[in-house]
Amino acid sequence: MNVRHFISFLLVFVGTLTSGFGQADAVGKTDFSFVFMTDVHIRPDSAVVAAFNRLVDTVNKLDVDFVISGGDQVFDVMRGNKAKGDSLFTLYKTLSSRIKVPVHNTVGNHELFAIYPESMEDSTHADYKYGMFKRYFGDTYYAFDHKGWHFIVLNALDVAGQKYFGQIGEDQLRWLQRDLAGVSPETPIVVTLHIPLITAFNQVYPRPDQNNDAGPAIVDRDALLAVFKKHNLRLVLQGHLHWLEDLNVENRTHFITGGSVAGRPTWRGTNFGPRGFLLFDVKEEGFKWKYIGF
Ligand SMILES: [Fe+2]
Repeated sequence: MNVRHFISFLLVFVGTLTSGFGQADAVGKTDFSFVFMTDVHIRPDSAVVAAFNRLVDTVNKLDVDFVISGGDQVFDVMRGNKAKGDSLFTLYKTLSSRIKVPVHNTVGNHELFAIYPESMEDSTHADYKYGMFKRYFGDTYYAFDHKGWHFIVLNALDVAGQKYFGQIGEDQLRWLQRDLAGVSPETPIVVTLHIPLITAFNQVYPRPDQNNDAGPAIVDRDALLAVFKKHNLRLVLQGHLHWLEDLNVENRTHFITGGSVAGRPTWRGTNFGPRGFLLFDVKEEGFKWKYIGF
């Protein structure tokens, strides 16, 4: 797909805090609800733990079927201290286990173990890169079905030159093609990944060293979207930027960047929007969402 053509059809609703069912969507009883939270950035700080416990209590009062977490559950393990990494993953796992419904976790950049040059470990370590995440949460990409919808959680991260970057990669694209081969073209699909596939962040907050044609943050973004060309991709849930936006692209797919639990800077401020998470109500092929503080 021609990217300029694609972008020219963007309908941008930045900073909107709620979004209703579309006109074509039936009104009435919600089929199911779920929570999308992202960028928890848990750390062993009593104020952070108290805030996350409040979030868990808030989620537990909602009648949702499951929670999806968009990555950066912990902050962080990139410098390769195994004892610290284990304590962070254990802390998140323990605290999030109080959530009464299943939690589906996405890998974020801060979960990539020992990738930085200053790390005390290297690529020979069993926990390197995805290893520690996998040890606690299992595969970094997977899919599940729920009440007629198909949910896909992707790993949008890889490492080169001891830096992380956005990439899906050929192995995962092949897995995705195999997965979608068993999904009908009509089935509504939700994709979750940490690095945004499409975002207007750089348009709203341009940097002097970066113009608006800087290109996608996921290098094989177009190859990924091409896989969905004959499928009903309704919703892409994104994290990483710690800000909230809802892009309705070609009135077909909403690319939603889900704010953040931790704020920005991490647990020290609320630049680019308040702390919170998204509650989705799904009805047939439509959905609405609202952003909830805690
Ligand atoms: Fe983050």
